[in-house]
Amino acid sequence: MVNWPAEIGRAAKYNVYMSKFSKPVLGIESSCDETGVAVYQPGRGLLAHALYSQVKLHADYGGVVPELASRDHVRKLLPLVRETLDRAGLGMRDLGGVAYTAGPGLVGALLVGASAARAMAWALDLPAIGVHHMEGHLLAPLLEPDPPQPPFVALLVSGGHSMLVAVRGIGDYEVLGDTLDDAAGEAFDKTAKLMGLPYPGGPALAAEALKGDPGAFHFSRPMTDRPGLDFSFSGLKTQVLLAWNKSDRSEQTRADVASGFEQAIVETLAIKCRRALEATGMSRLVIAGGVGANRRLRAQLAEAGEREGFSVHFPRLEFCTDNGAMIALAGAIRLAAGQEQGPQIRVQPRWSLETLEPVPTA
Ligand code: KG4
Ligand code: ZN
Repeated sequence: MVNWPAEIGRAAKYNVYMSKFSKPVLGIESSCDETGVAVYQPGRGLLAHALYSQVKLHADYGGVVPELASRDHVRKLLPLVRETLDRAGLGMRDLGGVAYTAGPGLVGALLVGASAARAMAWALDLPAIGVHHMEGHLLAPLLEPDPPQPPFVALLVSGGHSMLVAVRGIGDYEVLGDTLDDAAGEAFDKTAKLMGLPYPGGPALAAEALKGDPGAFHFSRPMTDRPGLDFSFSGLKTQVLLAWNKSDRSEQTRADVASGFEQAIVETLAIKCRRALEATGMSRLVIAGGVGANRRLRAQLAEAGEREGFSVHFPRLEFCTDNGAMIALAGAIRLAAGQEQGPQIRVQPRWSLETLEPVPTA
């Protein structure tokens, strides 16, 4: 069995890592429209985390305005770092390392977190590491009490990505399927917008769907009628647009359409998860990323797992969407493995998960 280094958070048997690196790691997330900060300490777990969401700032525009996002990260990041350290009962000098999201994401937003993290690390003479945002999502279930051991299949569904990944160890990732057009979260957001729901569309549409009848409108389950693990959700959005424009546009119809759309996405994701488990012979499934907060997705996959004999692992709701905790955790694991990087402030708006360095197991 592989020793899972994330267990550095709790079990003494993983003390190979703990003995090398046991000081608190500050994590900073600023890749999009949330400023997230957290402190994770190997051996003790998550000490504190805080999040500032820019939802109100972007709501008038119906989506994220990159320049406004960067400026707001500048305003909010340092106060949030102070608040998080206070909550953890720590001072800057108690830290043992700094981790920050280095991509993928909005370049200006990423640069705010990276610059602050690098400056802190330089001033305090600490090791620092740029974390892959999707690796952060993928590892978030390890913050929960019963962390999954690799190998497992990860379904990563966020505003920018829909991916199925075979995880054979930390940093050992094979992308089995990717989105050909819109990501699952993007499909939720765009579909919500065309029905007049507020930004961010995913949670708004999910709330509507609760009031609707999932059988009233039937939308297709894209790309499930042929082999393969890629996704395509943009056609689904067009189907909804046509149905919505032809309808009476009543409150109930909106809820029914939302429910039919949500059911189509959930079933499509579930079909592909099953296929990925079969193709890899793996029996554990991890769901992460913002869409992982969707209650219907969580319920239907948990049920399928019970029925079909695979285990399903989710982060708690607040760690599905962007947060600093997942970045602090991923950074702590990599710093523990000695993977600090030089002092350059470097971010990568596009970055393949498959290029990450594997983390040797204990
Ligand atoms: O992971 P995340 O916070 O940011 C990115 O890395 O993109 O994901 C945000 C996405 C948005 O598209 C949002 O609408 C979607 O996750 N989302 C949801 C729900 N909560 C957030 N989609 C469906 N149902 C939800 N409950
Ligand atoms: Zn994300």
